[in-house]
Amino acid sequence: EKGGWSSFMAKEISEQPAAIANTLIGRISDGAVKLPELDALGPDILTDITRVVFLGCGTAAYAAMLGQYAIEKWAHIPVTVELSHEFRYRDPVIDNRTLVVSISQSGETMDTLMAVKYAKELGARTLSICNTQGSTIPRESDAVLYTHAGPEVAVASTKAFVAQIAAIYLFGLHLASVRGELDAAAVAGLTAELAALPAQLETVIEQKDSISQLAGWMVDTRSVIFLGRHAGYPIALEGALKLKELAYIHAEGFAAGELKHGPIALIEPGQPVFVVVPSPRGENSLHPKVISNIQEIRARGARILAIAEEGDVSVLPFADTVIRIPLASTLFEPVLAVAPLQIFAMELAAAKGLDVDQPRNLAKSVTVE
Ligand code: M6R
Repeated sequence: EKGGWSSFMAKEISEQPAAIANTLIGRISDGAVKLPELDALGPDILTDITRVVFLGCGTAAYAAMLGQYAIEKWAHIPVTVELSHEFRYRDPVIDNRTLVVSISQSGETMDTLMAVKYAKELGARTLSICNTQGSTIPRESDAVLYTHAGPEVAVASTKAFVAQIAAIYLFGLHLASVRGELDAAAVAGLTAELAALPAQLETVIEQKDSISQLAGWMVDTRSVIFLGRHAGYPIALEGALKLKELAYIHAEGFAAGELKHGPIALIEPGQPVFVVVPSPRGENSLHPKVISNIQEIRARGARILAIAEEGDVSVLPFADTVIRIPLASTLFEPVLAVAPLQIFAMELAAAKGLDVDQPRNLAKSVTVE
């Protein structure tokens, strides 16, 4: 039940630190990842596979994009992300050395279920990352790695998303270890970063009231743009999806590098743009590029809402609002950066008098194709 919360979504946003912690529990020991569930794939499968294909829809597909970035970096194995409903209607090249990893909160999404069945027919090995014990997709898969977010009631996915990222990262670290791509010390460092996320996320969620105020002045806004790069890109897509589904506002997420290839034409005075700013300490040197994107759109009148790490002063001259997240390395930042966008979408929907838990035209699980 909702307890004292105004909506299930508000409750579930607050449960995100626990969703991550519970997904990690018992799976990290002395800095190493322990996932006995994966034994069900069969012996040597994880060393034998030549690539990983993620399947998912909506928010689950955005978690998969982060999985792609993480697994390619850690395990040096090719990874692609497929929208489940597209996958089966072309001729994907899949063989018995492909591991197909489906991501689904409900385990009942028909598009994803059919894509998993199709992948099996093509000979792939199948792993399900799922939040619902005993649901259909895990039963159709060779192995299952459960997320432990607890039941998610609100149509908009929040705690299941961060739990999916945690589970995918555990899987990626395990894969990298068994394939000899990361040594024990590197894995121990990364598992420590994973384990730090719940407390860090808690501090972001504590800023709820200041984010609610932003929503207050945007009730009449007709369009919002979200920008990010690398690990910030799936978060830009997720921020836009949340706003569409909850507040019925037209929203687009773009990779910031794509701006000059077209979307910058959309910028006119007053256009709100959320920007997920990568850390200036980031190993990929994207920070100055995103700052220059901010300058370009600011010069055209955009209203900038930056999500930036604590202490990054470079955003201050250009941002109308700065939302702070704690210091984390590149692949872990998205888990912290998504919470303000979830809260913003929820508060804006509430300010418009809309049903936050049950948006129009949507069902919690999409059991038809
Ligand atoms: O249950 P699933 O994770 O398979 O659901 C996938 C999508 O339908 C779901 O994430 C949807 O995009 C959410 N309503 C987004 O908040």
